[in-house]
Amino acid sequence: MATHKIAVIAGDGIGKEVVPAGIEVIEAAGRRFGIDFQWTAFDWSCERFAKTGEMMPKDGLDQLRPFDSIFLGAVGWPGVPDHVSLWGLLIPIRRGFDQYANVRPVRLFEGVQCPLAGRKPGEIDFYVVRENTEGEYSAAGGRMFEGTDREFVVQEAVFTRQGVDRILKYAFDMARTRQRKHVTSATKSNGIIHTMPFWDERFAAMKERYSDVTTDQFHIDILTAHFVRNPHWFDVVVGSNLFGDILSDLGPAVVGSIGIAPSGNINPERAHPSMFEPVHGSAPDIAGKGIANPIGQVWSGAMMLEHLGHKEAADAVVRAIAVVLAGGGPKTPDLGGNGGTRDLTRAIVEAVKAA
Ligand code: NAI
Ligand code: MG
Repeated sequence: MATHKIAVIAGDGIGKEVVPAGIEVIEAAGRRFGIDFQWTAFDWSCERFAKTGEMMPKDGLDQLRPFDSIFLGAVGWPGVPDHVSLWGLLIPIRRGFDQYANVRPVRLFEGVQCPLAGRKPGEIDFYVVRENTEGEYSAAGGRMFEGTDREFVVQEAVFTRQGVDRILKYAFDMARTRQRKHVTSATKSNGIIHTMPFWDERFAAMKERYSDVTTDQFHIDILTAHFVRNPHWFDVVVGSNLFGDILSDLGPAVVGSIGIAPSGNINPERAHPSMFEPVHGSAPDIAGKGIANPIGQVWSGAMMLEHLGHKEAADAVVRAIAVVLAGGGPKTPDLGGNGGTRDLTRAIVEAVKAA
């Protein structure tokens, strides 16, 4: 029996409600498919910050290093500035463990109200793959003559051949595992004249190595319009840190509730643990009420199962989510129902047993 050691950081707010739900479902899948988990909880959060002045201990990354994966809820709470919680915990983990592929599935499920008119379940089913370590989000730059009329600021984008090639390769490899085998590149080589033509060049070079994968590319401005008008065109969409950031919020938004959207921060070489977390935050407005939608966390758990090599179990969890969303069972208020986190979790666990 495979045993996986998982570090659990529930974090703040509804993170503490949806993480136990996620664990319960993954355990059910484990029982069914012969996978064993050892969960180790870390109390790293804004609550901890309030007590100790730190989101996580100084040797936090060393503590996480021996684990196979990290299962994270959400961090952030009123009273602690968001940049403190983000830079004190999430960013150090993503960068320290070189989780350079940020992956978000976008899928329209039956039973979820799509904000786009006339879209049917099954029509929208793609992934956004975002470069997570370099690009536009660099610290290179500066500010001079502050407060005078000569004031200027410079912010440099950093695109390395290694960094660009590895995220493109990740996207092409992912496309190869999918039925449509299609990669779309987000670019802006008409306006950004150094980094984006370079990105296009590397994309063209990578494409040569994947004759079985079809491709297209769009400038980011029109691409955002196509996400809304023609979401059925896409299979795997790859973008730089900034473009991927925008697309990976827009994608889940066009298919419904933020409560169901999952994500993976992946180190494809497996030199370090990868981290799986829902897209949503700690939702202070509904925290403690027992009504948070657990599906984003559960689906993140399915992505973790797949990363750990258990595709069959991962597929069973996603099927269970689909069955529960499509059926007449309990739904949380964000999905238009009046059920609680517990009710929805129990329904998914039952569906996993049958999926
Ligand atoms: P949020 O995602 O926490 O909430 C936005 C809205 O969506 C709220 O109305 C909330 O009730 C609803 N919502 C979110 N998840 C839900 C779920 N599972 N079920 C039902 N409804 C759900 O975003 P917000 O309010 O901007 O941020 C709150 C805190 O979370 C901030 O401190 C922020 O920094 C942090 N945050 C953390 C993230 C992370 O840990 N990766 C990501 C986004 C925000
Ligand atoms: Mg974002």
